[in-house]
Amino acid sequence: MEIRAALLGFGNVGSAIARLAARQPRSASHTIRIVGALVRHSAHRKHADVPLTSNPAALLDAGPDVLIEVLGGLEPARTIVLEALSRRIPVVTANKTLLAEHGAELSQAAVRGGVPLYYEASVIAGVPFLGTLARRPLTSTVTALTGIVNGTSNYVLSQVNRGADLGSALADAQRQGFAEPDPSKDVDGIDAAEKLAVLLQQFAQLGVRPREIEIGGIEGLTAADFAPARRFGGTLKPVVHAEWSNTTWSGFVGPAFVTWGNPLAALKGTANGISLRSVSGDLLFAGPGAGPDVTAATVLDDVLEAVANPRTPDSCRHRTITQIPLSTKWFVRLTSTASLPDGADLADLLGSYGVWVQQTSSTEAQHGKDARWLLTYACTRHRIERALAAVSAASTCSAFLIRALEAPSE
Ligand code: HSE
Repeated sequence: MEIRAALLGFGNVGSAIARLAARQPRSASHTIRIVGALVRHSAHRKHADVPLTSNPAALLDAGPDVLIEVLGGLEPARTIVLEALSRRIPVVTANKTLLAEHGAELSQAAVRGGVPLYYEASVIAGVPFLGTLARRPLTSTVTALTGIVNGTSNYVLSQVNRGADLGSALADAQRQGFAEPDPSKDVDGIDAAEKLAVLLQQFAQLGVRPREIEIGGIEGLTAADFAPARRFGGTLKPVVHAEWSNTTWSGFVGPAFVTWGNPLAALKGTANGISLRSVSGDLLFAGPGAGPDVTAATVLDDVLEAVANPRTPDSCRHRTITQIPLSTKWFVRLTSTASLPDGADLADLLGSYGVWVQQTSSTEAQHGKDARWLLTYACTRHRIERALAAVSAASTCSAFLIRALEAPSE
């Protein structure tokens, strides 16, 4: 059977979708034909196999079997997707920004239309776990998750660990086609926060907007931070983490110290992965998270699924529960142009604010400053910031801090 799909967006991912559809995967019982693609200025562009248009109504009026949305951003994607769902056209999207902001509205529209809304490629594009778990409600009863969901920042940090500077590592990721059109979304943690919002919708039934999440970027880290991290028994990774109960949730996005026992510590370069604490135990999914060809394959699998095995969203009601401060260990770098307090004095001062030091490094000279790294026991951000403010006031040093996570079973 031929599936007639309309495509919103004909950039890197859109054209990879058209190329892959034209190759007609032999194993599938269905074939997919791209009957038209929405571009901003159709007069300026031509494509041999796919009719291009700048008129979204014309695409929907042709009555496609499925609408594929890879435009990115909020508008016009949101309006066209809602219109498609109201016309009972199944939608496949890879647009994490749209889902993070309007996931509930889109799910409600899909429920009303009685059609699928599939978004497997929106988070860890090359690893099909969202759809798999959506069909397995018992296995996917999850109470916490920790993941690396941004390939660009994992690549950049892996390169910084090897001595590269952040700017050239990012330029490299851009050349390889992994970075966002605005790469500050990768580096600042916004892309990862959007993906965490999508994960929270599916696994915690939470309608959390990216701006409500504690977000940190990777820019503050340097190659010098990796050696003390290794001595503390781990490395530094760009992670997302959230945990929840019936009444509260907490989470963050940002670079974090992870122990070697944490499976995420082994994910190098652009690799993505996610560990879910489920009723069955810890589930780990890992693999490629980005790239036009990887994303195209997942999107077309969703198209086949939307026709062969359609499933409307179960629930579009998001819970409203309270966000509470997250308590974790902390990885801290102290630097000073004068001399840093000695280890015992530092531990005493931090302890008087309820922050307990687990390990410290020796003092090292770093670009004309003294630097020392600490790993603390768990406390809230408020508590450690108050303690470090007291340390800074007492010894004119400055502090850089990131969260520290243990392996799920530690
Ligand atoms: N810029 C994203 C990343 C692309 O690096 O993971 C995939 O969503």
